[in-house]
Amino acid sequence: MITHRLHGSEIFIGEKALSLIPDWLSSHVKSKRVFVLVDDQTELSCLPIFISAMQGRYEVIKIAIPAGERNKTLELCAYVWNRLLDQKAVKSDVLITLGGGMITDLGGLAASLYKRGMRFIHVPTSLMGMTDAAIGGKTAVDFNNIKNAIGLFSSPKAIFIDPIFLKTLPKREIANGWAEVVKHALIADNTIWDELPADASAVPDFDLLLRSIAVKVLVVQEDFEEKGRRKILNFGHTVGHAIETIHLESRNVLLHGEAIVWGMLIESEIAKHLKLIREDEAQQIQEKLLSFFDPDPLKTMNSEQLLHFLLQDKKNERNTILFSLISDIGSCTWNCEVDKEIILLAVKKFISLQ
Ligand SMILES: NC(=O)c1ccc[n+]([C@@H]2O[C@H](COP(=O)([O-])OP(=O)(O)OC[C@H]3O[C@@H](n4cnc5c(N)ncnc54)[C@H](O)[C@@H]3O)[C@@H](O)[C@H]2O)c1
Repeated sequence: MITHRLHGSEIFIGEKALSLIPDWLSSHVKSKRVFVLVDDQTELSCLPIFISAMQGRYEVIKIAIPAGERNKTLELCAYVWNRLLDQKAVKSDVLITLGGGMITDLGGLAASLYKRGMRFIHVPTSLMGMTDAAIGGKTAVDFNNIKNAIGLFSSPKAIFIDPIFLKTLPKREIANGWAEVVKHALIADNTIWDELPADASAVPDFDLLLRSIAVKVLVVQEDFEEKGRRKILNFGHTVGHAIETIHLESRNVLLHGEAIVWGMLIESEIAKHLKLIREDEAQQIQEKLLSFFDPDPLKTMNSEQLLHFLLQDKKNERNTILFSLISDIGSCTWNCEVDKEIILLAVKKFISLQ
């Protein structure tokens, strides 16, 4: 079992990490009941496994919400609060989030605001959740069609990462999670980049998973509040979030990781224009991204619309567009100001591919 400590969270990673939960609860929680937040998919695929790992030692009170990014809303957060109030949950009870990043983001926010802060634990079930969303204390919901517009930093007491859940994860969701693994490789660990398989259809082996999680943990350990180095985790995300925001309003379902892949493509092109990376490196990165991932999901993008959303990105300071950009394979720099003309040039290179 691999363990980390991160800003008030204990992290347990390994096959059978789930089986540690009852003992962990018995040494941290008085109550004999736990609240478990699931979506309608993880209720089917993951909740039975979770309940069996609890060995009948805790009453599991399920709170289920519909799956999908469209449901990462304040309304469903309020639904969680209502269910907790119905059950007379108190601050010292525990909310366990059992799901992907949508559930850990929303559940973390709901618990943090309930009675000024109820304890919560993350049990991520998607690859995206395991390598990224559950780690680092960011909680949020989308609001007025703006991604993660309402949220706060708040750490779970513990995170249990058990690869057992990856067995039921659909192929498209596996590729979605690979986007963050690839990002971790590009910003901080070129050994992951060198060992990437041919495509994003298979679950990463456990060692690669561990190294990807370690990148996130180490970066956040250094800079929890994102005043400096943590911003490297935003590589691909300035453009990626704008793409996601545009798709929140449309009927096309685009996953977070799919948007980030396109973000990384466009931002690697920006890094090339700024001479942070060489032309041949940019080409190598872009060829790998386009062969590793399915380039189809981005079909109806309008580059002017994308620029409009980029200007709203919350990472902007003083109305300039700030990017985190790779400066080599395996290293990254942040707070790079980029002229709109360069952004448009880079966007158009890939939008015109469609
Ligand atoms: N807080 C952060 O630091 C952070 C970082 C990255 C992403 N995020 C957020 O995470 C979200 C994306 O996370 P996601 O990709 O996990 O999406 P998700 O939570 O919507 O899960 C994707 C789909 O997979 C299903 N699923 C999850 N685990 C499963 C399993 N084991 N078996 C079968 N189905 C399963 C879910 O029900 C859902 O339908 C976005 O909202 C993004 O903004 C947050």
